[in-house]
Amino acid sequence: MNNTNKVSILVLTILLVGTGAVFFIFNFLQKKPDKLICKNGYFKDNNFAYFNESLPIETRVADLLDKMTLEEKIGQMALIEKNSIKNTMDVASYNLGAVLSGFGGKPEPNTPQAWLAMVQKFKSVSQDTCLGIPILYGADAIHGHSNVHGATIFPHFIGLGASHNSDLVYQVAQATTEEMRATDIYWGFSPTLDVALDNRWGRMYETFGSDTDNVSKLGQAYIEGLQNNSDGKLAMLATAKHFVGLGAMTWGTSINKDYSIDQGTTNINEKVLRATHLPPFQKAIESGVASVMIGLNTWQGEKLSANSYLINDVLKKELGFDGFVVSDWYGVYEISPDKYKSLIKSINAGVDMVMLPFNYKFFISNIVKAVNSGDISEAKINDAVARILKAKFKLGLFDKNQPLIPDLSVIGSDTHRELARQAVRESLVLLKDNNKTLPLNKNTKTILIAGSAANNLGVQSGGWTVEWQGIDGNWIPGTTILDGIKKSVSKNTIIDYNLDGNFETQTTQADIGIAVVGEKPYAEGWGDEANPSLSNEDLATINNLRQKSKKLIVVIVSGRPLNIKNYAMNWDAIVAAWLPGTEGQGVADVLFGDYTFKGKLPVEWKL
Ligand code: BGC
Repeated sequence: MNNTNKVSILVLTILLVGTGAVFFIFNFLQKKPDKLICKNGYFKDNNFAYFNESLPIETRVADLLDKMTLEEKIGQMALIEKNSIKNTMDVASYNLGAVLSGFGGKPEPNTPQAWLAMVQKFKSVSQDTCLGIPILYGADAIHGHSNVHGATIFPHFIGLGASHNSDLVYQVAQATTEEMRATDIYWGFSPTLDVALDNRWGRMYETFGSDTDNVSKLGQAYIEGLQNNSDGKLAMLATAKHFVGLGAMTWGTSINKDYSIDQGTTNINEKVLRATHLPPFQKAIESGVASVMIGLNTWQGEKLSANSYLINDVLKKELGFDGFVVSDWYGVYEISPDKYKSLIKSINAGVDMVMLPFNYKFFISNIVKAVNSGDISEAKINDAVARILKAKFKLGLFDKNQPLIPDLSVIGSDTHRELARQAVRESLVLLKDNNKTLPLNKNTKTILIAGSAANNLGVQSGGWTVEWQGIDGNWIPGTTILDGIKKSVSKNTIIDYNLDGNFETQTTQADIGIAVVGEKPYAEGWGDEANPSLSNEDLATINNLRQKSKKLIVVIVSGRPLNIKNYAMNWDAIVAAWLPGTEGQGVADVLFGDYTFKGKLPVEWKL
């Protein structure tokens, strides 16, 4: 072989070996290691005891806790609003325990598919970590999975409160769980167990009303409906909120300058607090509620989220609550102007999970600092994290056989809408009926319909529907009350509709006039209202209709009793429809006698 050949072979060999080496290194870098090396020296391993379904949950929790670093534990205590997570990988880097969609915190487009993809993305990042602890994803499904466009919107709780029907409430909760689970969400911030005593409060409609026993009974049914599962695991984590006494806040005490009563002070003594407001929580614990949310109110000069007596002593020790305690929206930072002091106060008071450190890096580093300096004991952290992990185990999130995700078609399904329609029927309260005006005859010759809530799915659904403050108009699927009436009458009935009751061309009086009027959607303190009543526009509409109808029925769509005493004298019948949601046909079903009025007032309504 001559020298030229030798050089060529050498070059070729170098090239081949070099390419092979580059290829090998490239592949090595691309390949995920079979085992993640964790900070504490553990390797992710499916044989860890905590993955073993046959072991008791307590053993699994202890095993997992034992393998966690302090940072990993503290990450579990954070509940972050999804829009403040700019990089999804932060879920893994900061070991975040839970993510929520604050109301309106939806994917684009707002479709069930996009919800599922969004939640699963967060979940898979959380599982692809050292210890593989799945996040919890939470949402306010307070009248159905109502963030999601196309979901079944059930009547708000005030209407379910009027039904006084636990079986119905149980079924509504089960349907809600099914729609949520279809999007892989396992944590609902519901039910509201506040005993609402003041109709000026913008959150009265989120409650089952002002009767402690009714709130307790329906609250239990709702929790069991959300959580129960045929396989013994939890189907969903329910949240009993807001602990405690929100329904008795005093007008004018809100700490929020835009509100009047919401986020205010509960000026009652402990005896009244225990007699009226505590029992629904006691019952919720008996039903095995997985989490309790702390209110944003103040009692005896202290924010609830700083109240060690009520959280540590009453809720956890005395009532024996063994789930986890979550704070409400930024509440823990309102304790003192010093955020660090605020945080340690609330965690020492018994808050296990904090909603929501927008700045989770600050949260984690400060809690680490607090533990290292002894401001928070490690035992407190261990207790909080054990409670959170226990809930995750109870859902079966660590198990080989993962909970089945229902098909997305359950969202807004006919079966659920039929149930919602039944719930509407059972929630209606007949406030007044002179001369047996109701039920109406389906063969009535002429009917005039008017009013701001007659043809508006947004208005009849109220706040917490797609947007926090609700929506206006007919752009979610459902049946308006107007359409429901049209479908109920005979083909010979002539129906005329005008928003403002402007029927000037009508020369003779119609047999029946139906005014469907009420409140525009609102949520939380934005709905605080010194004199809840009908608007001048609604009153003008009713007057127009009165003149053009032999008999007048007024259907009130509202989240609370309205002050109508001064106007109602010449109305023949009045129906409280509350906030029925998407299935307006249920209102017509009862107006036309297919079903009788069953609802009873869940709150006082002076007429
Ligand atoms: C409300 C809670 C709700 C939370 C999360 C807060 O403003 O008070 O009831 O669960 O937001 O959306």
